[in-house]
Amino acid sequence: ADFDRLLSAAGDGLVVASNRQPYRHDYGDDGEVTVDRPAGGLTAGLDEVMRRVDGTWIAWGDGEADAAVVDGDDTVSVPPEGSEGDTDSGDANGTYTLRRLWLDEDEVQGYYYEVANQVLWPLCHAALGTVESCGDAWTDYRRVNGQFADAMAAAAATDADGDPLVWLHDYHLALAPRRLRDRLGSDIGGRGDGATDRTAGADPTLAHTWHIPWPSWDTFRACPNRGALLDGLLGNDLLVFHVPRYCESFLRSADRGLDGTAVDFDAGTVDYRDRTTTVRAAPMGVPVDRIREQAESMEATGFRAAFRKNRGIDRDTRLAVGVDRLDYTKGVVQRLDAFERLFAEYPEHRGEVTFVQVGTESRSAIPAYADYQDRVEAAVDRVDDRFATDDWRPVVYTTDYVSDEGLAGLYREADLAVVSPVRDGMNLVAQEYVAAGGDDPGVLVLSDQAGAHDTLGEWAVSVRPHDTEGFAAALDDALSMPERERRRRANALTDSIEDDDLDSWLGDVLGAVARVASADGGVPTR
Ligand code: G6P
Repeated sequence: ADFDRLLSAAGDGLVVASNRQPYRHDYGDDGEVTVDRPAGGLTAGLDEVMRRVDGTWIAWGDGEADAAVVDGDDTVSVPPEGSEGDTDSGDANGTYTLRRLWLDEDEVQGYYYEVANQVLWPLCHAALGTVESCGDAWTDYRRVNGQFADAMAAAAATDADGDPLVWLHDYHLALAPRRLRDRLGSDIGGRGDGATDRTAGADPTLAHTWHIPWPSWDTFRACPNRGALLDGLLGNDLLVFHVPRYCESFLRSADRGLDGTAVDFDAGTVDYRDRTTTVRAAPMGVPVDRIREQAESMEATGFRAAFRKNRGIDRDTRLAVGVDRLDYTKGVVQRLDAFERLFAEYPEHRGEVTFVQVGTESRSAIPAYADYQDRVEAAVDRVDDRFATDDWRPVVYTTDYVSDEGLAGLYREADLAVVSPVRDGMNLVAQEYVAAGGDDPGVLVLSDQAGAHDTLGEWAVSVRPHDTEGFAAALDDALSMPERERRRRANALTDSIEDDDLDSWLGDVLGAVARVASADGGVPTR
């Protein structure tokens, strides 16, 4: 795809904002800089995008605020020193600017831990029982969104010759689009009202990708401050979800949850305060070629052999693999229940297959997450105690860091991947597994509660995570699938993820932005 052309049609520069930064730099006493990449598909995917199109990325600079502030260093050019090897292969070796916002502890608590992750995250994943009321935290959320808006306005003014594109991401920044409009002074009169524009004539297009589900209105109406959230998001020109279901739910919420909106369900638009927000679906993809290269690398091959050896997994034992952030939405506990049922009801799989769960610690300061880690460990122990023999383990669980190459190798080694979230905006692991597959491809077991199921469900073995019995039967089916059928499905899955890879997603989003920017909104992108 011709990103430069698409980008210039969409705007004259790119400013991206997300809560999570793609790289975390830590400064040792000796001045050594180490670089870490956080978990989660969003930042890895966007990093690829930014390397292709240049621009500025604004994010929370979690970690070394003190060290960096002392150095006056809140901006780095990516790829940073020390990141060689893991980030600059293939075509994706451009640079961009990463600008960090340093938040104080109270702000992080209120904005990130409370509103974003104990209200909006569980709410959008329809886990109302996990929502913790936020009280004062809302003030922090609003303040931090204001800080993001300031930084975006500044970057939009300096970066562009003309009108830039500001692309926001996710549920941490729901109020920021409206705040940015306020900063730009172009709130009244909508686009093109340059008279009150305070950023040197720039009239950015605002696009926002919401990477998690948008819940049904009946769930969303439980949201404290639901009107303010909708008002914030309707500061965007374009709002993008992964699948059409979420678009429909959002339109319904905008219709019911906020006075003064005019929603056109067929066109997918919301008119509000003299602006039209276009709502579109664009399912995110993965960098298929890069993952394939990783799966074929020496490191991957070495990792596969070493993993079996170190974990005491026999060469002939088949592997099923799960890879997740340790989040209660990911269904890891239900998955372990299903494996327990499999080994109980279908004893022929005992000694023949080991389930490998790779878990990445996440948001552990939140009690629901700490509890979840404990529950996963307890379930692993339970299944192990019940079935393990001297030379076979039913489950191997690890929270060790695994490199991208190692992960791609593990995917290729596995006869099945089990991706079974109880709810998930998209889920890129399902696609990564398919991308890593080789000559002897495996089977994808996929929850019908993942956004990815809307695009891949037809060729996956579908499961409903809470239906333990059905889940176990599906695992048995997957393990017993005849080779021809397995290849037929794998080929179809591969075609699908190749057609809808990361580049194609970027093209879709930028194409939609360009149409909206040329005041030609209302043309469906898909
Ligand atoms: C999900 C969210 C992302 C987030 C990621 C990791 O994928 O959609 O916005 O970055 O989880 O979570 P964390 O809280 O560590 O950023």
